[in-house]
Amino acid sequence: MARRKKIYEGKAKILYEGPEPGTLIQYFKDDATAFNAQKKATIEGKGVLNNRLSEFFMTGLTNIGIPNHFIRRINMREQLIRQCEIIPLEVIVRNFAAGSIAKRLGLDEGTPLPRPVVEYSYKNDALGDPMVSEEYILAFGWASQQDLDDIVSLALRVNDFLSGVFYAVGIKLVDFKIEIGRIWDGDFMRLIVADEISPDSCRLWDIRTGQKLDKDVFRNDLGNLTEAYTEVARRLGVLPTQATHVNKPTLIN
Ligand SMILES: Nc1ncnc2c1ncn2[C@@H]1O[C@H](COP(=O)(O)OP(=O)(O)OP(=O)(O)O)[C@@H](O)[C@H]1O
Ligand SMILES: [Mg+2]
Repeated sequence: MARRKKIYEGKAKILYEGPEPGTLIQYFKDDATAFNAQKKATIEGKGVLNNRLSEFFMTGLTNIGIPNHFIRRINMREQLIRQCEIIPLEVIVRNFAAGSIAKRLGLDEGTPLPRPVVEYSYKNDALGDPMVSEEYILAFGWASQQDLDDIVSLALRVNDFLSGVFYAVGIKLVDFKIEIGRIWDGDFMRLIVADEISPDSCRLWDIRTGQKLDKDVFRNDLGNLTEAYTEVARRLGVLPTQATHVNKPTLIN
């Protein structure tokens, strides 16, 4: 069998050439990193859960008309996606203070923000993904003003969708990060949501108990990450309820 071509290997995923031009296969690894990859571990089952959860959220976005890269899931760890030109920004939406905004502004973790706040980091591991302003983005040409208007509108729509989906299962969406890519239809360019939406890229707190159900469990050694992600998947109906007792995630179709 011909070996498929690896396009990119990142910290959490691998991209392979897809079956048709303009497609890629996204493979979800079990690797977890935090603090700009200073902390690393392999967490059994994480890739399977994130593949399935990202499928769930991206399909939900498609259903409400928010363009994204997801085409279909291939197997436990892989999904077919549309290849796009990733804008080198992490687009972060915050509803409550946590992480860097809490530190920067001296806010208590969990303080509700006056409104959803969108911010950007420049995707550059060597620099530790520094926060950048719209002015930087425009000046360095990473995106145009029209792109930024579209990015904010996409990010806020994703925020409304995800906040509602999580609220319905007793989870507070504190913040999340998305990546946006460009695709070309002839001379026309469109922006789509790319990369992944999973507990790796969101802060999720149980509404009742405040328990953390996201990558902070790994960052701050708060317990078993796979159990936390399995709980998120179970509440969303992505895994059968029996899966709560087993170590390994079980897929349902
Ligand atoms: N639809 C897509 N088309 C092209 N590239 C994509 C698409 N979706 C995601 N990517 C890119 O694939 C890579 C996924 O790998 P991973 O998330 O492991 O990277 P990473 O180690 O976090 O590094 P990076 O800083 O580049 O995100 C990322 O670089 C992401 O920007
Ligand atoms: Mg990444």
